[in-house]
Amino acid sequence: MNRKVTVVGGGNVGATLAQRLADRELADVVLIDIVEGMPQGKGLDIMEATPVEGSDARVIGTNDYKDTANSDVVVITAGIARKPGMSRDDLLKTNYGIVKECTEKVLTHSPNTIVIVVSNPLDVMCQVAYKVSGLPKHRVFGMAGVLDSARMRTFIAMELGVSVENTHAFVLGGHGDTMVPLPRYSTVSGVPITELMSPERVEAICKRTANGGAEIVALLKTGSAYYAPSASSAEMVDAVLKDKHKILPSCCYLEGEFGIKDLYVGVPAQLGAKGVEKIWEIKLTDSERTALHKSAAAVKELVDILKI
Ligand code: NAI
Ligand code: 2OP
Repeated sequence: MNRKVTVVGGGNVGATLAQRLADRELADVVLIDIVEGMPQGKGLDIMEATPVEGSDARVIGTNDYKDTANSDVVVITAGIARKPGMSRDDLLKTNYGIVKECTEKVLTHSPNTIVIVVSNPLDVMCQVAYKVSGLPKHRVFGMAGVLDSARMRTFIAMELGVSVENTHAFVLGGHGDTMVPLPRYSTVSGVPITELMSPERVEAICKRTANGGAEIVALLKTGSAYYAPSASSAEMVDAVLKDKHKILPSCCYLEGEFGIKDLYVGVPAQLGAKGVEKIWEIKLTDSERTALHKSAAAVKELVDILKI
């Protein structure tokens, strides 16, 4: 194929993402990890499914960054994942070192790529990749809002007994406990959910959304979610490779938008072949804006710990 996506980190999110990209015949896929043999094994296994899936995507697993050369998109999923009792922020220092190293190595062989960060704590890891890569801000962004919004859409559909396809949701802010679900902008066939259920049920859905990652961690006990995260990452890759101009909640570098400066935070962004084409500065009420700023302050605290 004439497009190439590298997935860094061949663990749960990375391997599942590689599989989704290959099955959809979106691009040739390179899966890279530090563990010897594992990415090669998973890559071959995914490749051997392509005849059944009807996909001519080529998939390889490797430990050598030379194989990642000239990637159109690189998705960074390398790092440690949450275990019960750990917050996303507990991953800070370990994943800082990992994301820094992976970004440097990837950029050596794909200097003009688009980088989509998945590793946690997400907003801070975006800041790390941006600073280390030296790429323009529109080429470095992160996946979290698509996942958080997908969770909210699922809960809305469950609550009202409607198709998930009829649901739309926006969750902004940092990918942590302070994330900001926006019920006013969350709809069923265009009707805000605030008109379709009681304030108590809206509140319950917002709370479950913000706790969505921890809910899965508590059930799995050995790691964190990966089916919905990989599906969400694949949607962002798809928007870029197909130049869809698709508006998705994405973690973007803000320079004054929403009154936030020099920080990565989740906002509605239009994604296409250039990466982030535009940030949609939707109108927020005072309380929504306050919540977004509180969330940004939580991200800033972690960025300051790393002094990046
Ligand atoms: P995992 O533990 O299954 O996989 C991580 C992989 O990274 C492992 O295979 C490991 O060998 C690899 N790795 C570690 N250091 C590396 C290095 N220097 N170079 C290359 N590979 C390296 O974890 P999982 O579940 O795949 O999660 C990955 C990351 O994504 C975690 O930080 C997790 O918190 C985050 N995550 C973020 C989400 C989001 O919404 N932004 C959603 C789900 C997970
Ligand atoms: C999640 O939200 C752990 O960030 C990951 O599932």
